[in-house]
Amino acid sequence: MDSILVRGGGELRGTIPIAGAKNACLTLMPATLLTEEPLTLTNAPRLSDIRTMTQLLQSLGAEVASLQGGKVLSMSSWRIDNHTADYDIVRKMRASILVLGPMLARDGHAVVSLPGGCAIGARPVDLHLKALEAMGAELDLRDGYVHARAPGGRLRGAVVEFPFVSVGATENALLAASLAKGTTVLKNAAREPEIVDLVHCLRRMGAQIEGEGTETITIQGVDRLGGATHPVVTDRIELGTYMLAPAICGGEVECLGGRLDLVGAFAEKLDEAGISVTETETGLKVARKNGRVKAVNVTTEPFPGFPTDLQAQMMALLCTAEGTSVLEEKIFENRFMHAPELIRMGARIDVHGGHATVTGVEKLRGAPVMATDLRASVSLILAGLAAEGETVVSRVYHLDRGYEHVEEKLGACGAQIERIAG
Ligand code: EPZ
Repeated sequence: MDSILVRGGGELRGTIPIAGAKNACLTLMPATLLTEEPLTLTNAPRLSDIRTMTQLLQSLGAEVASLQGGKVLSMSSWRIDNHTADYDIVRKMRASILVLGPMLARDGHAVVSLPGGCAIGARPVDLHLKALEAMGAELDLRDGYVHARAPGGRLRGAVVEFPFVSVGATENALLAASLAKGTTVLKNAAREPEIVDLVHCLRRMGAQIEGEGTETITIQGVDRLGGATHPVVTDRIELGTYMLAPAICGGEVECLGGRLDLVGAFAEKLDEAGISVTETETGLKVARKNGRVKAVNVTTEPFPGFPTDLQAQMMALLCTAEGTSVLEEKIFENRFMHAPELIRMGARIDVHGGHATVTGVEKLRGAPVMATDLRASVSLILAGLAAEGETVVSRVYHLDRGYEHVEEKLGACGAQIERIAG
């Protein structure tokens, strides 16, 4: 297993290109199952999760070609010759559950392994299943699989009210409803930019959808969908992650392709902490204003609130802020696993349930640390950039799921960072 070695150093200066969004691409790719015609995604990120979704779709009979070094995904599902999403692939990536809605909507039946939990929480899929049942699906849970069928071979429109916001359940319902017979209304729907991007793609394919980005989305089901070419939206979590690099180290970095509307609440928190964020012609320029970062309180919420996927990275910044910060994690039940690793680097953090209290120290000290999940891994790299001495982050396969070429992107801005093959 590879590790990444980071030597704490000086300020960072330069530009970092932001890739297409992993979490948009993972919901756009299953849309190929809704049509016999070709669906092409451009600006796709080159990540292991995308390769896993590619394998899953190919196992169902879809043709998926990765072109231009992985930046273009050319897909075609003129028929689905296997309707079972196998546990061996699904267990590697929870987003695999997103093939359930489209397969059911296209062919009236599907068998998908339950994804199981992951490091940050149990992560059930009950809201996905309830939404599909509301649309007429008959579901039978056995042997760790969901056996689903649509009576008469077709789902029907329904009103689906989510008891709380779920990105994945909103996406599964959207994909399924686009081919259902009749009208579907999703209430308390997720408002994330990845949802908006999925609707833009489905609309290019001929879907009739309104309300994306609000809490109520209305879908008029159609009999068939066509092909399309769609650019994957910029990754707001990669963007926020790299905005924190100059915030932690000092200096100035321009994140190319960054858009303020993708990181509103996050940018406001950075401003409160004494970090300047400026829109440029080509992206977002980030610099630390004079003096030390100030402590701020953070509560994670569904979009447009502060993203849970940036909580670990923000904690890395607040470890050396002036004052005490309180981070409240309201989305997942176990998403502070980066805290013990940051404490190994000299951070002062007290975790009680869903709250982490961080008392800022002058400097962190490099140490060997272990990545536990995707976003925790990159928060440890950020912490290492500003720490005294060397930090070695092990188990970086977590990192490779969601960040392409971290060492190149940060290295180009002056970071002392290298990958150690293990
Ligand atoms: C998506 O996960 C993202 N993953 C996550 O990013 C992100 O953290 C999360 O949304 C929240 O923004 C992808 O898009 C592939 P949810 P998802 O359904 O859809 C509970 C990353 O680092 N819940 O909005 O699984 C769930 O356990 C990943 O890129 C149910 O109880 O998130 C969680 O506590 C991590 N039942 C909360 O709701 C359900 O049926 C929000 O989950 C579904 C979810």
